[in-house]
Amino acid sequence: MQRIRCQSLIKKKEDGIPITMLTAYDVMTAEILSDTGVDIILVGDSLGNVFCGYDTTLPVTLDNMIYHTQAVVRGNQSSFIVSDMPFLSYQVSIEQAKENAGRLIKEGGAHGVKLEVGTEQLETVKAILGMGVPVMAHLGFTPQSVHQLGGYRIQGRNQDQVDQLIALAIALDEMGCFSVLLEMVPGDVAKQITHTINVPTIGIGAGLDCNGQVLVTQDLWGMSKQTPRFVKHYAKLRETMTSSVSDYIQEVTSRQFPDPDHCYE
Ligand code: KIV
Repeated sequence: MQRIRCQSLIKKKEDGIPITMLTAYDVMTAEILSDTGVDIILVGDSLGNVFCGYDTTLPVTLDNMIYHTQAVVRGNQSSFIVSDMPFLSYQVSIEQAKENAGRLIKEGGAHGVKLEVGTEQLETVKAILGMGVPVMAHLGFTPQSVHQLGGYRIQGRNQDQVDQLIALAIALDEMGCFSVLLEMVPGDVAKQITHTINVPTIGIGAGLDCNGQVLVTQDLWGMSKQTPRFVKHYAKLRETMTSSVSDYIQEVTSRQFPDPDHCYE
């Protein structure tokens, strides 16, 4: 299978072919996603919640992101791999942001980076693009600003917010970002942005009209304890995993395992 490049993603938008994107933090998930041919793998800072059990993504460090990106890169040969820039890795100074984006590419092996963008980050995005690093801009609900936004809330509910989102998306498109991710915005706002900009939009809780969709893989697999309304469960892995562990405990404690098939002579 040939590796997806950011140019192929833009071509997919032009050809009206939906783009698929899922998260991975480890090699086995990356292998499964590689086998199924998902277009983009996001090593998301959602690993703070999903992998580490934090309440927010805020404690995730750049070293955490590099470590998990390396694991994903080892398991995947076909997707475009995007690594999230975690909180405090790009907000302090442009120089620091450039160095940290560079480390995700050079040490992590990612093909591009994702940043949560407000107007304040436009110069930073420009500087990272200037180093030859593909950037995906994350707009709408931006989890690293959860305290400022007052919790997990839908964005783009009033005209001021909508105008701001559209202006930001246009600026990022013109600047050369390869994609804009829209999280938790009303479907008609996402549709308007999608039809206004040239590069693909990827939605999560942003309706049907984006050029692609992303979910956290553990949510899709039904492994997470709680999921937002926009998540669809395609499997019930939490149930399957729990019952398999219960079966193991039952067989070990009743001395049914290991049986002759699983013992050396
Ligand atoms: O970190 C992440 O997994 C994300 C997705 C939820 C889009 O940003």
